Amino acid sequence: MPTSNNKRFLKALNGEKLDRPPFWLMRQAGRYLPEYRKLRAEAGSFLDLCYSPKFAEEVTLQPLRRYDFDAAILFADILLIPDALGQPLDYKEGEGPVLDPIRSAKELGSLSLDKIHERLNPVYETVNRLSSSLPDHCALIGFAGAPWTVATYMVEGRGSKDYVNIKKWAYSDPVGFGQLIDILVVATTEYLLKQVEAGAETIQIFDTWAGVLPDSEFLKWVIEPTKRIVDGLRAKYPQLPIIGFPKGAGGNLIEFVKTTKVTAVSLDTATPLEWAAKEIQPHTVVQGNLDPISVVTGGQPMVDRIHHILETLSGGSHIFNLGHGIIPQTPPENVDLLAKTIHEWRK
Ligand code: CP3
Repeated sequence: MPTSNNKRFLKALNGEKLDRPPFWLMRQAGRYLPEYRKLRAEAGSFLDLCYSPKFAEEVTLQPLRRYDFDAAILFADILLIPDALGQPLDYKEGEGPVLDPIRSAKELGSLSLDKIHERLNPVYETVNRLSSSLPDHCALIGFAGAPWTVATYMVEGRGSKDYVNIKKWAYSDPVGFGQLIDILVVATTEYLLKQVEAGAETIQIFDTWAGVLPDSEFLKWVIEPTKRIVDGLRAKYPQLPIIGFPKGAGGNLIEFVKTTKVTAVSLDTATPLEWAAKEIQPHTVVQGNLDPISVVTGGQPMVDRIHHILETLSGGSHIFNLGHGIIPQTPPENVDLLAKTIHEWRK
């Protein structure tokens, strides 16, 4: 459970007024860092890296040695859940994740909740190590994918452009598809509870593909499963700060915040900032929005955009972040400039 209230990041999540917002970057550990690429090559496969507490701890710490982030995010992947449930998973060079797709309720028998913790134990071990190795000012974020987004990979078998297979299943057999979502709600809640037990001070739930659903389905497959996870976590840890990231939610963000009762929401790049300041920020802490591509470009245009975000969201609780994960083409020195810009704001 959150132990230290002198961490800027936890203060912001608690709604406290601060001289500058805390900042971290989604996917801050990863391929834009040469030290990551080196360790990744030594670890063998990406899954070996995720399941090695020593390596995963090291990769989590790497960006903190370069930048003064206020939070660290556990190094893992949202697809460890399907892996732990027994769905074969591989990360192919240049292709991303590839899974044996599951496309009907009768195939759900191949998944089992029985051994998930056995498989995921190294992740809890990584969290445990990090809870003592992180710098004192730095908060530790645990995470998982939301059921909808994890299901997109489980059903499509890979990243998708049109989500035809998962939508076909969800629209034509909502009861059967709901069974997959139920399995994911249970697995994800248990997984996150174990992360908190091991020392995660807050949790982020990534729903990267929330925005591909129409209204009514958004309620059913994004808001409701997220709410069940939030309720499950709070039943045991009532004070746990939880960050939601329903990317592409648009106007549905209002209902998402109201119904799930997350502590904070991450705004994607397309969310109009003034709208968010008026409609979202009065009800919850907001995070995010800077286009990851502006960190690839860097220079004055990035600095101007950062200032605009800081000013527009300065009337309420705010955590500075990107609108989506940092991309491999990002020059690390642009992240230096980003950090400097935030530290020097209003000084
Ligand atoms: O934020 C962090 O630094 C922690 C680590 C983290 C990873 N994945 C490491 C990773 C986190 C939080 C994730 C989340 C994740 N994984 C999401 C949600 C957030 C988002 O970016 O939308 C999704 C959709 C995935 C699924 C996934 N994992 C994909 C599509 C890919 C391949 C393409 C890509 O983005 O790199 C991965 C692989 C992956 N996960 C890598 C890393 C560092 C690259 C693997 C490698 O080194 O070869």
